[in-house]
Amino acid sequence: MTKPFYITTPIFYVNAEPHIGHTYTSVITDTIARYHRLAGEDTFYLTGTDEHGDKISQAAEAKGQSTQAFADHIAGIFRSTWDELDFSYDRFIRTTEPAHIETVQHILQKVYDAGDIELREYSGQYCVGCERFLTDRDLDEEGRCKDHEKPPEERKETNYFFLMSRYTDWLAEHIEKNPGFIRPAGYAKEVLSMLRSDNGLEDLCISRPKERLQWGIPLPFDTDYVCYVWFDALINYLTGINYPDDPQFEERWSNVEHIIGKDILKPHGVFWPTILKAAGLPIYQHLNVHGFWNVDNRKVSKSLGNMISPLVMRERYGFECFRYFLLREMSFGRDASFSEEALVTRVNADLSKNLGNLESRCIKMLGRFREGIVPEPGAATELEKDLEALVKRIPITVDEQMRNMEPHRALASVFELVDATNKYIDQRAPWKLAKETDNAESMELLDKTLYSVCEMLRVISLLLAPFLPETASRILERLGLAGALEKAVLPQDAQAWGGLPVGNPTQTGDPLFPRLEMPAAEDAN
Ligand code: MSP
Repeated sequence: MTKPFYITTPIFYVNAEPHIGHTYTSVITDTIARYHRLAGEDTFYLTGTDEHGDKISQAAEAKGQSTQAFADHIAGIFRSTWDELDFSYDRFIRTTEPAHIETVQHILQKVYDAGDIELREYSGQYCVGCERFLTDRDLDEEGRCKDHEKPPEERKETNYFFLMSRYTDWLAEHIEKNPGFIRPAGYAKEVLSMLRSDNGLEDLCISRPKERLQWGIPLPFDTDYVCYVWFDALINYLTGINYPDDPQFEERWSNVEHIIGKDILKPHGVFWPTILKAAGLPIYQHLNVHGFWNVDNRKVSKSLGNMISPLVMRERYGFECFRYFLLREMSFGRDASFSEEALVTRVNADLSKNLGNLESRCIKMLGRFREGIVPEPGAATELEKDLEALVKRIPITVDEQMRNMEPHRALASVFELVDATNKYIDQRAPWKLAKETDNAESMELLDKTLYSVCEMLRVISLLLAPFLPETASRILERLGLAGALEKAVLPQDAQAWGGLPVGNPTQTGDPLFPRLEMPAAEDAN
């Protein structure tokens, strides 16, 4: 283990059950975390639930439940769903945990002592969906919240304000001087335009009077108020690695990557760095912002009933097929459209036809022609040298793409290896060579071909492991390399041509990806 790597998902509101958007955020985080673990980094992946605020207490009330019971129930669903989907998180944090409450109060006190929190009277347009007062740019032409398409409520209150505007120039300068701090670049531009807008940055109301809202963390310097839910929620990233007591805190924190969806850019791109600055803490390494999934070209919403449950997708298609589609179809940062037809088409083309056929052709031929035992490769010819060159290059490209937060491109790079191997098999036509048993040269070429194809499969599996962990393990097992992932180090083990031991026993198995049927019209979504 070398340097620490710390990655976070947003923490999920407990007012809805896990859907495609939550799943995408988690699939990306899980994939990146798995990559860094395989790269030998001391990786910590944090996820959890965001449980305070008006929105949650209103949802509980609507169900006729106590807020705590309601939050416990939905937090439990998130946790068990993520467990069923085998997300490799290291900690599941809940903002109602005593440890988190303590951390929030600690930070609030620090910022208050630094003179960056002030009591003021305020009136404004409050959106319960966003859990914040809106500015003009958050409203559409009809004066409704752009995100929630609902008119905000007019609210007047005496509240505590975080003097965020003090940090406008500092933050703008930091973003300008550090390209990639917020990525992809379009989102950095968006944050800059929030900072540079005519009215500039406003101060942030961070309290709610207790008489109106009890479901929150009391301010340590005035217990008549509870903390605004976003101020509370962002701090989970510190609680998650035991700020301030853990001796590893500083090192981990200096390598933090946040993954978020574009709808929560402002809290993460503006509130969070300024809170950290005011609390005297270093700011994060990168804010990685993904786009939104539409389903059948419509916005995902409860009322349309098109939320897409990951467990239903698992049941229908297998989770790795769904996971593959999410990772491959969306260019990180942009929006994408989900439909079951598109999933079936892509999975059949990429996984059944390209990858699945490659694996089954390779292991079956080895069984048929060489009793399943990996043969001697002998000296490389031009064709093998081409494969070797690819194997030297692609793992480095994948490494760069993963570190630049371009998982869709990294996956496409891995599939370059799949395509090259399928092409190599067709060029060599081992089924023809196998018939020429009297020709020693053909037999040697057959061994070389079979070895090279299996070796390519080993490399492909190592690189595929962060994306499709179960598939990668299954292929490696069939190559007689069970347990290889526990020892592997990326990218170097994927680059090391010849890693597959001669004489390894292989075994055939069921098709990895049986062709999927198009959904019947009435089932679709
Ligand atoms: N609780 C806040 C985050 C606090 S982090 C300190 C929150 N929760 S959420 O449950 O509403 O959303 C969690 C994540 O799901 C966000 O990153 C959001 O962008 C993502 N998605 C929700 N719907 C989505 C799509 N339709 N598509 C892609 N991701 C979207 O926000």
